[in-house]
Amino acid sequence: MVTVVVGGQWGDEGKGKVISYLCMRDKPHVIARAGVGPNAGHTVMYRGRKYPLRLTPSGFLHSDARLLIGAGVLVNPKVMLEEIEQLGIEQRIGIDRRCGIIEEEHISRDRGSEHLAGKIGSTGTGCGPANMDRAARKLRLAQEVPELEPYLTDVAEELNRAADEGRRVLIESSQGFGLSLFYGTYPYVTSKDTTAGMACVDVGIGPRKVKEVMVVFKSFPTRVGSGPFPTEMPQEEAERLGIVEYGTVTGRRRRIGWFDYEMARYAAMLNSASQIALTCIDYLDRSCRGVRSYEELSEKAKKFVEEVERRVGVPVTIISTGPEVEDTIDLREEKLG
Ligand code: GTP
Ligand code: IMP
Ligand code: MG
Repeated sequence: MVTVVVGGQWGDEGKGKVISYLCMRDKPHVIARAGVGPNAGHTVMYRGRKYPLRLTPSGFLHSDARLLIGAGVLVNPKVMLEEIEQLGIEQRIGIDRRCGIIEEEHISRDRGSEHLAGKIGSTGTGCGPANMDRAARKLRLAQEVPELEPYLTDVAEELNRAADEGRRVLIESSQGFGLSLFYGTYPYVTSKDTTAGMACVDVGIGPRKVKEVMVVFKSFPTRVGSGPFPTEMPQEEAERLGIVEYGTVTGRRRRIGWFDYEMARYAAMLNSASQIALTCIDYLDRSCRGVRSYEELSEKAKKFVEEVERRVGVPVTIISTGPEVEDTIDLREEKLG
């Protein structure tokens, strides 16, 4: 059974948290990373330890899983090799031999660009320039990098085999709907599409094999970098609500806004979402922090969940009540049967 998890706003919705919960719970055979590349920063917090990840699949805590990086994902070998060593995942990580490689030159071009770093507010991780070189057909691929040789594989082959054998496969994307090159707030977007369809392309699986698409929404969406944010609130108001966040990769302060139902509906439509994961419900009402059953949520939080379901038209099956993996309410059995 293949599940795809994507972001529904401007990234940082808490995909890392939701994916790590799903993987600890469902124990997929294969967890494959889709998305742009190391511009992402997923935060996984488990029993007091914090793991900031840029390329490793967020489901790595489930120690029996094969971890794969799809061909569509850009790899910075330095970042990748550091994570492999720190997390001790040498034996179970596989990198597609066709992944594009980010070089120092891409990072300097990104950071030195008035347009990318200045106007768009890119993460400065070289992803934009590397994808430009890929389109120009001059980017180096993982198969040309000796240090990556021990990990190279054909991700599409592995994934499709697992899916055909009826095993659980989880595909995790990065960034979010509003950052899609085609459907986001162009030109203030990332260098690729970010919907579930793209995530499938990234890892080499066709749409017929996907069973579930889960879109992750934050109760109070955030955005880093420039670009429109129709429901943005002043920083002072966010502070009054006790919401202050900083980017995992760049350390920049995240802009905060109110939940945008219309954007959520549209994102769910383009992703053909079958489920919603709603994170940071504790921002709405502090009493919900760490709560692990639906009954214990406040009336205010329950009303919000119902409103999201009604206006987006997709069931909310996962509710996150704090950064810890285990601070999660799982309604999948109840709502999907
Ligand atoms: P990208 O791949 O970069 O888009 O990131 P992401 O979607 O994995 O999210 P990221 O980890 O960058 O940001 C989410 C932040 O919210 C992290 O600091 C998480 O630890 C935190 N977080 C996740 N879920 C919850 C929650 O339910 N409540 C609270 N308070 N924090 C949460
Ligand atoms: P780039 O992907 O580095 O080119 O950045 C383009 C835009 O996407 C900027 O607004 C970044 O802040 C944003 N962006 C890229 N990746 C992420 C992410 O993982 N989380 C949040 N914003 C991101
Ligand atoms: Mg992030």
